[in-house]
Amino acid sequence: MTVSRRDFMKNSVLGAVAAGVGVPGMDAHPQAENAGRGHASEGDTRRPTIICAHNGYAYVEAAYASLKNGADTLDVGIQVVKGPEDDPNDDSVGLGGLPNEEGVVELDACCMHGPTRRAGAVGGVRNIKNVSMVSKAVFHNTGHVMLVGEGAERFAVAVGFPRENLLTDRSRKIWLLWKEFNSDRDWWGPGIADPSWRPPGEQPKPQAELWRDRIEHLRHRAADLGIEPEFQMAAVRRVLFPPTGTIHCSVLSEKGEMSGITTTSGLAFKLPGRVGDSPIIGAGCYTDQDVGSAGATGSGEENIKVAGAHTIVENMRRGMVPQDAAMDALKRIVRNYNGDMTRLRYMDMTYYVLRKDGTYAGVSLWEGYSSGHPHTFVVHDGRLRSETATPLLKGFSQEWPPHPTVPEELKKNSEYLK
Ligand code: GLY
Repeated sequence: MTVSRRDFMKNSVLGAVAAGVGVPGMDAHPQAENAGRGHASEGDTRRPTIICAHNGYAYVEAAYASLKNGADTLDVGIQVVKGPEDDPNDDSVGLGGLPNEEGVVELDACCMHGPTRRAGAVGGVRNIKNVSMVSKAVFHNTGHVMLVGEGAERFAVAVGFPRENLLTDRSRKIWLLWKEFNSDRDWWGPGIADPSWRPPGEQPKPQAELWRDRIEHLRHRAADLGIEPEFQMAAVRRVLFPPTGTIHCSVLSEKGEMSGITTTSGLAFKLPGRVGDSPIIGAGCYTDQDVGSAGATGSGEENIKVAGAHTIVENMRRGMVPQDAAMDALKRIVRNYNGDMTRLRYMDMTYYVLRKDGTYAGVSLWEGYSSGHPHTFVVHDGRLRSETATPLLKGFSQEWPPHPTVPEELKKNSEYLK
């Protein structure tokens, strides 16, 4: 589904208004305060419960069976997220994760164990696939909470994790495509002697035409590099809009014990050493045994600045229901940009929230990606299902294909925004 620039501007502003996020010069929509409040009413206890990101779906049924059989909540969370970590075709986590700008996979994870109130985290780990388990090992085998980089890798090996090459052939090819695309001043990509070489465009072209050319060129190069036809456009998308991937899982047991865990390969093609929100306790994940658990997937830098998961849990502690608690964290992100939709459209965030009584919510900054895929999350509270996240803003992030820049005078014209 393609959202036109006009619709995008219109919808995002209306969405922001409906959500009461304070777009300058506009009043909050009166119905916003009565928006949906979460998926179980007060006192409607549903235990046990698992909530996780969409990419955990295939692993939740088995994990739920473990939970029913009395497994520890953190082990159940790890059972879910280990699935995508082990899957070479999930390029957002673990093995096959998209690498940093140098083509090296660097993984991040953190976890919190509610019953014992312990926490562990690892950041920028190379060559170790199951960093979710390594984050647990940090609190299990050391007196520390967080290990990073080479030290984290050496620790993982010391406690028995195997070193392995995490860069799959597919992820390497996508990285190569990205490297070539961003390389108009070095020697990456076909040289002048190559029959497929084309001189840089000499005639100025309209933006839309330039984008069409770029996308076509990238798709051809993806084919040349041997990327499977059915995955070529997905590879192009990853090059143009480097994803943040990630999986979070929060778990509540029959006994009322809770844990949370988040693991990721982070932002694709990041600077070596960059860590996002996923290994930051309080941002990518936060669990308080007395209150609930929350986690995040999406734009790590933005989530760190609002300490998203901690903000949500603290909001619930003060009495907010999960959905309102998470909407408040999203509004803080919007506030950090003064409601500037031109900037906000280049970021996204999904929060997964589970309160101690089993009430849960999945909320997102935008409805989904402009490819037409809505943000979804997975819940199991006796019945496994996928649900659509409730968006704060109407519209889609990272418009695809990107439209020409809208002239400033049009943006300022209020008629245009109606
Ligand atoms: N949320 C994952 C990251 O930004 O690294």
